[in-house]
Amino acid sequence: MQRALDFDKTPALGVPLPFFLNVPVFGLLAGLLAVWAGPQAFTSRWGAATLAMTHLWTLGILGSAMLGALIQILAVACNVAVAPARAIAASVHALLTLGTLALAAGFLWWSPPAWLAAIALLGSAFVIYLSASGLALWRQRRQVYKGAREILVPVRGALAALTLTVLIGLGMAGALGMGMALPDWVGGHILWGLLGWGGLLLMGMSFQLLPIFQLTEIYPKPLTRWLPLLIPGLLLAWTALDASNGLPRLMRETVELLLAGAYVSWIGASLHRLSTRKRPTAEPTTLFWFTGLISLLACAPAWIWLRHGQAPQAAMVLGVLLIVGGLGAIVHGMLYKIVPFLLWKHAQDAMVIPDRNPAQARVYLKILPKMAAYIPVRPAQWHWALYVLVVLSWGLAAAGWPPAGQAAGPLLLASAALLSWNLGRALRLYRHTLRIMAALPHHAAAAPGQPAADA
Ligand code: HEM
Repeated sequence: MQRALDFDKTPALGVPLPFFLNVPVFGLLAGLLAVWAGPQAFTSRWGAATLAMTHLWTLGILGSAMLGALIQILAVACNVAVAPARAIAASVHALLTLGTLALAAGFLWWSPPAWLAAIALLGSAFVIYLSASGLALWRQRRQVYKGAREILVPVRGALAALTLTVLIGLGMAGALGMGMALPDWVGGHILWGLLGWGGLLLMGMSFQLLPIFQLTEIYPKPLTRWLPLLIPGLLLAWTALDASNGLPRLMRETVELLLAGAYVSWIGASLHRLSTRKRPTAEPTTLFWFTGLISLLACAPAWIWLRHGQAPQAAMVLGVLLIVGGLGAIVHGMLYKIVPFLLWKHAQDAMVIPDRNPAQARVYLKILPKMAAYIPVRPAQWHWALYVLVVLSWGLAAAGWPPAGQAAGPLLLASAALLSWNLGRALRLYRHTLRIMAALPHHAAAAPGQPAADA
C-alpha cells in the first residue's frame, strides 16, 4: 500500500539543496578529468585517473544526490526526521565534498597523505550521517506512516549496504595510505556499493515515487515485499562465498545470476509501469528513468560478457552502464523533479497573506511562478539528449573505442554545464520571487521566521 507524500514534513531548503548542487560541480570535475586523461582513462580499471573518476561519480555525483534525497524522502514518505537536520546536513555536506576531493587526489597523485585525509573526512561524514539516520529510524519507528514499509525495508538495506561499502573502502584506503599491501576486498566494495546501496535505494524510491509522480500502477505486492529482503540476502551469500577459499567459482556466479534475476524483475516491472503510465507526455524525468532502466538492463549481457568472455573491457563497460547509465541517469531525472518542486513549495510557504485577505492572495498567486516555470521542459529535454550522448560515449570509450574516449570528457563537461545552467536559472527565479514578495506591503513585517527564510 502506497500513501501520499506528506509535504508539510519537508525539511528546510538548505538541507537537501547543497547536496543536489554537488551533482553539476562534481560532473564538471569528472568531465575535466576525463578531458585531461583522454582515452587513457578508459584503458584500465586500475588507472589512477580511472579510480579518481570512479569516486567523483560514486561519491560526488551519486552519493551526494542520494544522501540529500534520502533525508527528504524519510521525512515526507515515512515521517522520520533526521535531526538536527541543518547541522547534520551542513557538516556531512562539507566533509563529504572535501573527502571526495581528497580521495580523488589520493588516486590521482598516488599520495598517502591525501588518502589519510580522505579517510578522516569521509569517515567523519559517514559516521555522522549513518548514526543520525539510524538513530532517527530507530527512535521514530513507532510513528512511521502506515504503508511506508515498502520504502523503509529497502532504505534500511541500502543504509546497511552503504555502511559496509564505506567500511571496506576506508579499509582499502587505509592500506594504501599506510603503504601496506592492498587487501582483495574490491569485489565486495563494488557489489555492496552499487547493487546494495545504489540499487536498493533506487528500488525503494521507485516503489513510492513512480506511482505518485509518473501516475503508474503500483508495484505488485510480492515484488515490493520480497525483493528488498532477497537482495541483501544474496549479497551476504556472495560475500560469504567470496571470503571462503576453495569453493568452486560456480557457486559465486550462481548467486550473481540470482542477483541479476532479482534486479531484472524489478527493471521489467518498472519499465512496464512507465510504459503504461497514465501521464501521456514523457516529461524529462520520465526520459531519464527510461534511460537509466535500459542501461541497467544492458548490465545483464555485460555481466555475461564479463564472466564468460576474455575481454578486459567488459568490467569497464559494466561499471559505466551501472554508474553513468543506470544510477547516474535516474539521479539526474530525480533532480529535474525534486528541485523545481522544492523551490515552488518553499516559495509558497513564504507567502504571508494578512487576515486571509483574498485580494492579497490573488496578488501572491500572480507572483508565484508555477512549478514548471522553474526549469522549463525544453532545456531539460536538451539536457536529457546530451546525457544520452554522455552514456553512449562513456560506454563506447570503456569498450575500447578511442574516438569515444576523446568525446567522453567534453560531453560530460557540456552536460554538467547545462545542468548548472538549468539549476542556476531555477534558483534565480526562486530568489527573485522571494524578493518581490518581501517588497509587497504587509509582507516584510511578517516574513522573518517563515520557512523560506530558512533557505
Ligand atoms: C568512504 C568512501 C570510499 C572509499 C574510502 C573508497 C575507496 C576505494 C578504494 C581504496 C578502492 C580500490 C582501489 C584499488 O583497488 O586500487 C575503491 C574502488 C572502487 N570503489 Fe570505492 N570507496 C568509497 C566509496 C565508494 C562508494 C560509495 C562506491 C559506490 C557506490 C564506490 C565504488 C567503487 C568502485 C566501483 C571501485 C572499483 C573501481 C574499478 O574497478 O575501477 N566506492 N574504492
